[in-house]
Amino acid sequence: LQALSVASEAYPLVKTGGLADVVGALPAALAPHGVAVTTLIPAYPALAAATKGAQMLHKWADLLGTPARLLGLSVGGHPFLVLDAPALFARPGGLYGHDDDWRRFAALGRAAADIATGILPKRRFDLVHAHDWQAAMAAAYVRYAPTGPDRPRSVVTIHNIAFQGQFPATIFPDLDLPDEAWAVDGVEYYGGVGFLKAGLEAADAITTVSPTYAAEIRESRFGMGLEGLIQARATRVSGIVNGIDPAVWNPATDAALPARYTARTLAKRRTNKRSLERAFALDRDDGPLFCVVSRLTWQKGIDVLAQCLDGLVAAGGRLALLGSGDAHLEDAFRAAAERHPGRIGVVIGYDEPLSHLLQGGADAILIPSRFEPCGLTQLYGLAYGCIPVVARTGGLADTVIDANQAALAAGVGTGFVHTDVGVEALNHAIARAIAAYASPSVWTQLQKNAMRADFSWGDSGRRYAQLYAKVTSAL
Ligand code: ADP
Ligand code: GLC
Repeated sequence: LQALSVASEAYPLVKTGGLADVVGALPAALAPHGVAVTTLIPAYPALAAATKGAQMLHKWADLLGTPARLLGLSVGGHPFLVLDAPALFARPGGLYGHDDDWRRFAALGRAAADIATGILPKRRFDLVHAHDWQAAMAAAYVRYAPTGPDRPRSVVTIHNIAFQGQFPATIFPDLDLPDEAWAVDGVEYYGGVGFLKAGLEAADAITTVSPTYAAEIRESRFGMGLEGLIQARATRVSGIVNGIDPAVWNPATDAALPARYTARTLAKRRTNKRSLERAFALDRDDGPLFCVVSRLTWQKGIDVLAQCLDGLVAAGGRLALLGSGDAHLEDAFRAAAERHPGRIGVVIGYDEPLSHLLQGGADAILIPSRFEPCGLTQLYGLAYGCIPVVARTGGLADTVIDANQAALAAGVGTGFVHTDVGVEALNHAIARAIAAYASPSVWTQLQKNAMRADFSWGDSGRRYAQLYAKVTSAL
């Protein structure tokens, strides 16, 4: 089975969040199940080195108004296609948030549909797998393409329903879709054009990145306007939890760690802790060291954590935070670090190796998200014996087992789970973690349970492969 995976980012070529990790890991996750995945992403400036000397596979004279080329390369032994449309993607600034995002990501979708419906003479695809709103139009373009019953099938994965790609109706004529696409069950969304909405209407199957999130987005609190659509298409919606890439996230082999370790050599983590203390200008001690690796946004509940810091420090804890995002949150953490020198250390920015050191050296990772489709940092924490303290939502609820007394007695607890995202609930969860840390035997048991948990792609890779098979056999 041949699948074309389409996204706006893919590790290791370009990454701003978990989406990239997942898209980057899918080819290897699916290969053992007889699925060959080709990945299509845009040619941002960050890809310049990787695409140098790449083979040109196709040329569009006019792809939604601009010339474009398709480049082919191999990454980690897997085929990648790169959409080189300089007018759309070769520019400074972030990946998203440009005034013409609608044209940039409609072009990505259109290119994907062209490829999936046979523009490359030697490549045939059974299905398109589009990730998030930036790629979702691929499914819509396939739906409205003038192909017969053997058209490729489509799967749309929601990594975060909070980002929907909503644009004014005035862009519709420029999307080069037939008039019939302007419909309630087409691309129209609250009087404008909705990219994610259009993809979800067109998709043969819809997935999201955890079973709990798949259930949550049926409710208005989480569905953010799309709950009605999700309910209406419920028989096609499923949740498949993300795995982690063991070639990138393994404490036994991680080149970013001063000391590599396994569940049997946990004492070596202390070397990493020392290194972490230096990197974050923290006091040197063996007390509980919490960390955060996150976008600093409302989703992540980081504002609530900011209100818990004085208590965390008073209870003997320390915090190392790596993140960037909303300016007022960045400021709040900088201020906390100034208030508590040696106890709170903050690095504002994006630093991949440092994120590994945090997982390999801190004792616990705080993830008080208001919603979390899957979450990857708790999975990295589990794999690294950095105990997750998480809110019970989405993928966090599906992957962390609260270490209550029954779970500890049964030897299965892997972290601390709080039900509300509020100051009191988070303080309580932090206090529970600090109390458990005070008992080395309990803490070591938690770490061993966590590291034993299986978050490889094995099971989830099989689930995607089964879904692909189901979708393509219903021809
Ligand atoms: P989301 O995609 O919602 O941001 P995830 O937990 O799924 O959340 O994925 C976040 C990914 O981005 C993880 O790989 C995490 O390690 C990484 N990450 C987040 N912030 C930073 C940062 N400031 N520096 C380095 N890596 C980061
Ligand atoms: C999104 C979600 C996150 C998820 C990631 C990868 O960024 O916010 O929860 O882990 O996508 O699926």
